[in-house]
Amino acid sequence: MGLVAELVEVAPVVRPPLKWAGGKRWLVRHIAPLWKSERHRRLVEPLCGGLAVTLGLMPEKALLNDINPHTMNFYQWLKKGLRISLPLDNESVRFYEYRRRFNELVAAGRGESKEAASLFYYLNRTCYNGLCRFNRKGEFNVPFGRYKNIPYKDDFTEYRPVFTNWEFRCGDFEEIELQADDFIYADPPYDVEFTQYAKEDFSWEDQVRLAGWLARHPGPAVISNQATERIKHLYRDLGFELIPLKGPRLISCTGDRTPVDEVLAVRNCGDD
Ligand SMILES: C[S@@+](CC[C@H](N)C(=O)[O-])C[C@H]1O[C@@H](n2cnc3c(N)ncnc32)[C@H](O)[C@@H]1O
Repeated sequence: MGLVAELVEVAPVVRPPLKWAGGKRWLVRHIAPLWKSERHRRLVEPLCGGLAVTLGLMPEKALLNDINPHTMNFYQWLKKGLRISLPLDNESVRFYEYRRRFNELVAAGRGESKEAASLFYYLNRTCYNGLCRFNRKGEFNVPFGRYKNIPYKDDFTEYRPVFTNWEFRCGDFEEIELQADDFIYADPPYDVEFTQYAKEDFSWEDQVRLAGWLARHPGPAVISNQATERIKHLYRDLGFELIPLKGPRLISCTGDRTPVDEVLAVRNCGDD
């Protein structure tokens, strides 16, 4: 554990730049021991979301992918040393004006512009719960968040040296061109058993597709998920070792503070 603490402490401290529901910062200390002997490899996060794990592990080389184009565009601009020149204030008239402008840019095919990246950051920090939801027309439709204070950042140049050897791409995880010796950490939306509802449109078929894709990879692979019975069966049957974990305590609407049962499924780690 001493070594792990050392590994996390010496890493340059740059925080995940976006607010991210389901961020896995708390998992870094569980993944760090698996990554420790594999640090010479490229880290691939195929569903990277808010980047909490990659920023916690601080690989030298990384390939980071997500299906959300606005998140990936924002990271591409951080790589160039983004400085936001728009006024950033926590005020509902401003929020709805920026939301309208963001949707206008996306509809006009300018979703990859610096302005769209700046507005996306503002919307992420200012909207309700940092959610990222779109209506059928593809418009961002999360309402104003009503926070008391928001510590906005307008200078992101500290990310530039960190991202130098990190490649960002946008698309489905299966389109990634893997190298045989990549270390993969995958964090899909939670499996929600016994319901029709698929979190973030990630269906059971997608969970199975991801598991098969990871099992075909000859290098090390680690995946985290909710420890449902079918997830445990899926990964055990594909030859993964399962590590049960208790997630953070989330306060539900009934006031229940039971921690979520999570699982890490691990393959080809530390044995070559
Ligand atoms: C639980 S989040 C990842 C959180 C991240 N590990 C963190 O700590 O911030 C899951 C991510 O999967 C992405 N996603 C969903 N379907 C995908 C797909 N088919 N291919 C790639 N990414 C996908 C979502 O956009 C979301 O960002």
